[in-house]
Amino acid sequence: MSAAPTHKPVVLIAEELSPATVDALGPDFEIRHCDGADRAQLLPAIADVDAILIRSATKVDAEAIAAAGKLKVVARAGVGLDNVDVPAATKAGVMVVNAPTSNIVTAAELACGLLISTARHIPAANTALKAGKWARSKYTGVELAEKTLGVVGLGRIGVLVAQRMSGFGMKIVAYDPYIQAARAAQMGVKLMSLDELLEVSDFITVHLPKTPETIGLIGDEALHKVKPTVRIVNAARGGIVDEEALAAALKEGRVAGAGLDVYSKEPCTDSPLFSFDNVVCTPHLGASTDEAQEKAGISVAKSVRLALAGELVPDA
Ligand code: NAD
Ligand code: MLT
Repeated sequence: MSAAPTHKPVVLIAEELSPATVDALGPDFEIRHCDGADRAQLLPAIADVDAILIRSATKVDAEAIAAAGKLKVVARAGVGLDNVDVPAATKAGVMVVNAPTSNIVTAAELACGLLISTARHIPAANTALKAGKWARSKYTGVELAEKTLGVVGLGRIGVLVAQRMSGFGMKIVAYDPYIQAARAAQMGVKLMSLDELLEVSDFITVHLPKTPETIGLIGDEALHKVKPTVRIVNAARGGIVDEEALAAALKEGRVAGAGLDVYSKEPCTDSPLFSFDNVVCTPHLGASTDEAQEKAGISVAKSVRLALAGELVPDA
């Protein structure tokens, strides 16, 4: 007599994840793949799966959740949950897990890289030199030492950026209404209002979640309060720094430079901001290191295993 077919729980991997993810899931699941950024692929693919693994390009919104008849877990291999409709998932009894510490060092390192690049014009000088231009005076920069860095959002990544940039001799100030001044002071960071931060900072780096409160926080009004020599880095989420307002401020010389990893619409291959020599851009690479991707993949794979076994999923 032949054995009855076993039906393994189905895990849909909707974005490119580290191979360590599948290894950590083990042999107990049927693994399927789709391109989650393509709705025409996502909606049918999610219909009969038990879990979906995503990064930031797949929108698991109310429509996707409604299309997912068997879904039990949405696992975000990274930090931000702004691409998941968490209330809709919760209402449908779907657990949402992420890997909140997996890529914070990697993301902080990229933010520091963007900051240094904006100060010293490294990408533009590299492009010019490779095009045969020895333009030394054009790419004179500014020092970081003794300058004030304003950290907007002193959470996991904001703290790591503050620690790293204080190693460059920067004075660190921060705006974060949810952090106690005493805790910030222990880290050598002075907490202040957003307006004060905008006025005193030589560099500003944004590390906020994307929420209705934070969208456009660094917008036209804020960009009229900054020093004209300020350089602004956004490696958090597109839209927290308003792109139109930033382009206007750069054009009018009210901001001296910017470093951007994230965009209000992604993928973003065309933006007025790309035409400025003093804007350094990367395509949402904040979490893109081998180490971070491996950590994120293993972390969410473990959470999916626990959740589908009906066990408690500890906070990562
Ligand atoms: P976190 O939750 O640890 O920190 C966020 C901080 O923002 C908290 O301290 C919170 O108090 C503060 N905050 C929340 N709302 C605020 C408001 N309205 N005004 C001021 N402060 C506010 O998050 P994190 O891990 O540090 O991540 C920060 C951001 O970086 C998130 O948007 C995350 O999605 C993004 N991120 C981007 C990449 C990338 O690839 N570029 C990688 C990882 C994380
Ligand atoms: C995150 O929030 O973790 C990042 O945006 C990482 C990513 O998924 O690329």
